[in-house]
Parts: sequence; C-alpha cells; structure tokens
Amino acid sequence: MKAISYKTRVSRVLFAGAIGVTALSGAIIAGENEFGPVGQIKVDAKKAELGKRLFFDRRLSGDAALSCASCHQPDKAFTDGLALSKAYPGSKGFRNTPTLMNTATRKNWFHDGRLGTNLNDVTREMITEDYIMNMDMRLMQERLKQDPVYVKMFKDAGYGEPSNGSVRKAIPEYLKTLTSRNSPFDKGEMSESAKRGFALFKGKAQCASCHTGANFTNDKAYNMGVPENPEIWSDPMRHMTYAAFGVFMGIENILNLRRDVGAHVLTHKADGSDIGKFTTPSLRELKYTGPYMHNGTFKSLFEVVSFYNQGGGQDKNKDATIKPLNLTFGEQQDLVAFLEALSGDVLNTKEHAWKDEIPTNYTAIKNWRAAKN
Ligand code: HEC
Ligand code: HEC
Repeated sequence: MKAISYKTRVSRVLFAGAIGVTALSGAIIAGENEFGPVGQIKVDAKKAELGKRLFFDRRLSGDAALSCASCHQPDKAFTDGLALSKAYPGSKGFRNTPTLMNTATRKNWFHDGRLGTNLNDVTREMITEDYIMNMDMRLMQERLKQDPVYVKMFKDAGYGEPSNGSVRKAIPEYLKTLTSRNSPFDKGEMSESAKRGFALFKGKAQCASCHTGANFTNDKAYNMGVPENPEIWSDPMRHMTYAAFGVFMGIENILNLRRDVGAHVLTHKADGSDIGKFTTPSLRELKYTGPYMHNGTFKSLFEVVSFYNQGGGQDKNKDATIKPLNLTFGEQQDLVAFLEALSGDVLNTKEHAWKDEIPTNYTAIKNWRAAKN
C-alpha cells in the first residue's frame, strides 16, 4: 500500500483547518449580530437561472394549471395572500402558504417541520404531492425535453439533458437567491416606535426566545394555542385534502379529528402532547405575507401581537412560557412597528422573477416511439 505523502497530509490538514476557521468566524459574526442581516448565498448563476424558469413554469404540474409561483408569488414575498392555500384543481389546501424568503437558511420545512433534509426533497414533495402539483416526474422530464429553451439551459448549466434529478437541484439553487435585503432594520433606519418595539421584543415581550437569528426563527416547534381554522372542516374540499394527508401520515383517528395536529406527525406520541405544535416562522417580510399563522387565522400583525399579549390561546399543551404580557396599547403598536421594519425589497423584478412568456402548447411528435430523446 502506498503511504500517503507528507505534502498531501499537510494540505489536507490545512484544508480542514481553513474550513474550521471559516465556520468559526461565521459563528462569531452570528454572535455579534444575533439578529441579522441575512447573508446572500453564493449560487451558480446558470443553474439558478434555470431554476427560476422552472419555478414559473406551469408545465411542472400534472395538468399545467399551476406553477410554484401560482402559490408562491414574488409580489407577496412568495406567499399568496390567502388564509389557506389553493391546491391542485379539484382540491383545496389546508395550510397557509409560507414565504420562501430565506427558506434556504432553514433547518426544516413545512409548518409541521416534517421535512428536515434539504430543499431538493422539499421540491420533489411540492411537485409530486397530489394536492399540490400532482406531477409524475417522468412525464415532467419528457415535457421539458420537448422545449428547446430547456434543452439549451440544462446543457449550459452543466446538467446534460433535462432530467428530474437536475430539476430538483436547479430549483433549490434559485431558492437560494431569495434572501431578505434592505429592510429598515438591516439598514439601521428604524423609526423611534420600531426601536422601542425591538427593545420590547428582546425584553419584556420575550419574543426573541423563539424568534432569533438572522431569520428570526430557531426552527423549533411550539404549541401557542393558535385557534383552529374551522374552514378546514366546513369546506368538504379542504377536509378531504386534510383527511388524505392524515391517512398518509398515519394520524390516529383522523376522520373524527377536528384539528390540525402539526408536529405530532413526526412523533405520534401516545399522550398527544405534540399535537398543535407548529414550527416557529421567520418574521421577515411580514408586511407582504399575511394572513398569519399555519392556518391564516390572523389577518393583521396587530391581531397577532394582541394574541401574544393575552397569553396566547387555549390549549392544555400550550407552551409554558406563553403568558399574558400586560403590554399597553402603545407598546403593542411599537411591536408591530418593529415587525414591519423587518420587511425589505420585494423581489419581483427580472432578477428574481421569470418575465418572458413560457410556451405551453406543443405540436404532437409524429411517430414518437421512434423519435430520439
Ligand atoms: C398549490 C399551492 C402551492 C404550489 C403550487 C407550491 N407550493 Fe410550496 N408550499 C405550499 C404550502 C401550502 C406549503 C406549506 C405546506 C405545509 O406546511 O404542509 C408550501 C411549502 C413550501 C416550502 C417550505 C417552506 C418553509 O419554510 O417551510 C418550500 C421550500 C416550497 N413550498 C417550495 C415550492 C416549490 C419549489 C414549488 C414548485 C415546485 C412549490 N412550492 C409549489 C403551497 C404551494
Ligand atoms: C415559544 C416560542 C415563541 C415565542 C416566545 C414567540 N413566538 Fe411568535 N411564533 C411562534 C410559533 C411556533 C409561531 C407559529 C404558530 C402557528 O403557525 O400556528 C409563531 C408565529 C408568529 C407570527 C406569525 C408569523 C407568520 O408568518 O405567520 C408572528 C408575527 C410572531 N410569531 C411574532 C411574535 C412576537 C411579536 C412575539 C413576542 C410577543 C413572539 N412571536 C413570541 C413561536 C414563538
């Protein structure tokens, strides 16, 4: 066996050392400025550009009715303005569409945190889930291959011919470009009211114990006693979708339940103590992302703040730290002013949104069995 040369060993050690230093200085920067700004993430420009076109392309859904951007709209910081989301035609959703701003910095995804791996898996879930885009990825791949623009873009991005694997890489590359920028908070241009709100946020109101870091979330789930949105059960289309989801996730007694169990899907604890826990959301771009909470129960930020001020909702498993805050009306207004100061640029220009038309009509291929891919 050939011994590893001294030079190789040294360079490996140096390389490892360099990684250590970068990680360390990152941690120090985070410590010095615990609340941000959100750093921009380095991306491969060609892959991200391809991901952008895919994100805005309705052909990625089974019947070409929905693109990612139908629900995650750039003008609304990649939400849809609805309490409960739309869904694939023939069904309706049972959760509020979350913002995709800074989604690449998260540790887990969805309101219940059920995916903790990576955005590649989240992308697959969105495309193939029957109540979201209901797409068979093999069909998607064939559709993409019929579009000469894609054939060129995939090739230029270094992916070779269009494949479902590279779609699941290119879209996350685009998602990495969706980072918050230029909020009054980041620019040090907050109003006096917002500054007082920030002090309350870190102090008396104790918001920062969960909403922390550059993206104002610790990515953990808590039970806040947020009221259910009754529409999930009064609207048969939403109930059906939720029931199908529940059966798939193995939620016990799903047909009799009249509540969204949240993070319980991850643990299925026998005492049900995880029922009603939801992941702490980011507080960035809130100006554009209402209504709020996993089920869109609150229309305004003032409603959210009053909810906290009264000590959250009613639930036997409500987090013990959620107590009445005794904030004055003015203090509540200051907190709202602070929350609003965390909203920055709307990423709806050509840089982040695909503006050119995307064709959806094809002429049938003659003798397609003999046609080469
Ligand atoms: C029909 C509406 C709809 C469409 C279309 C849609 N999404 Fe979503 N998206 C949602 C909803 C609703 C959730 C939250 C689901 C949950 O919590 O169970 C979500 C969650 C996400 C998340 C997790 C965000 C977070 O912070 O937890 C990402 C990332 C995402 N979608 C990306 C995409 C991409 C990429 C596409 C296209 C391939 C897409 N979505 C298409 C509605 C949609
Ligand atoms: C114990 C952890 C915890 C504390 C403390 C906390 N939050 Fe939250 N916050 C959450 C969770 C969890 C949710 C999501 C609940 C849901 O979706 O049902 C949330 C949701 C929100 C939302 C809605 C965001 C959206 O996009 O829907 C806002 C705004 C908010 N919190 C602000 C605050 C403020 C202001 C305070 C202090 C008064 C605070 N939070 C204290 C955990 C916490």
